Amino acid sequence: MLATYTKAQLEGLRPDTLSDDLESGKIVCFPECPIELPGADDLEFLRQEMPKHLASKNISFHPEAERIVGIKGERGVIERAQRILKEQNGRVQALLRKTMPALTRDWLVGTASFRPLQEKDRALPAHASNELVHVDAGAYGATHGDGIIRFFVNVNPVEDRVWVTKGAFPELYRRYGSQAGVAPRNGANGHAMDEGVLDKLRTSVANGLSTVVPPAKFLDSSPYDRAMRRFHNFMKDTPSFQSTPDGHREFRFKPFMAWMVFTDRVSHACISGQHAFADTFVVRLRSCRLPEMAPINILKSAPA
Ligand SMILES: [Fe+2]
Repeated sequence: MLATYTKAQLEGLRPDTLSDDLESGKIVCFPECPIELPGADDLEFLRQEMPKHLASKNISFHPEAERIVGIKGERGVIERAQRILKEQNGRVQALLRKTMPALTRDWLVGTASFRPLQEKDRALPAHASNELVHVDAGAYGATHGDGIIRFFVNVNPVEDRVWVTKGAFPELYRRYGSQAGVAPRNGANGHAMDEGVLDKLRTSVANGLSTVVPPAKFLDSSPYDRAMRRFHNFMKDTPSFQSTPDGHREFRFKPFMAWMVFTDRVSHACISGQHAFADTFVVRLRSCRLPEMAPINILKSAPA
């Protein structure tokens, strides 16, 4: 499930290697961080100051609005954090565009966030918890079948960031689709993911509003996004799923390792670790080389 690349290997890759890995449900892992990181003083600033200035679950820079949210405090602290996250996001964007030119075409650059708190025993409500295994759904509004890629860097100088998974979407859907209520009723139904008039109306209103008020994008929905949200909630609400040994694997990402994954295709939980960057991108279904691996096409075609 891990595809690991050294910096030297990265230089000679074909342009579809990394994107094929991601689309196949692998976690692409870089033991040596493939981008330049913020300077030591900026990293220390984030580690020391962000836990004290946190105002919500994470601190996130929104490039489209040039705005940082989830942070409170003096202007100097906020501006410094914003600069660091913006610069980090620029370097991640450049790496992904260079190594995955086709998959990043027409993408939407999402948030650049910093995870300032220890994930272990964070005691968040179940549906917001990172410690429970899940596939991402709705964290960046409706995607209508487009995919969510996240690029992480563990910037804790001494502590691993520990993830667990129960496997990738095709297998999870086969095992749990019916139980979770996301499989089409009465056998295969190729139209269950089609968007009706009301869905299209809601999307156009949400898109219009979000140009003025960015959070309005969260008003958008679609049959696909509702099914994925149901699957996400089923996973977090089902103790027997959380404890199953089926497909269970643990990964330890050491200090300054980086990794990226389709977080809506590969189930994951972060069970411990503190201080990480997480940059989010929505990539288009039409830019995928292996569209049959996308959850929307699995939901459309395969009875669970
Ligand atoms: Fe997640």
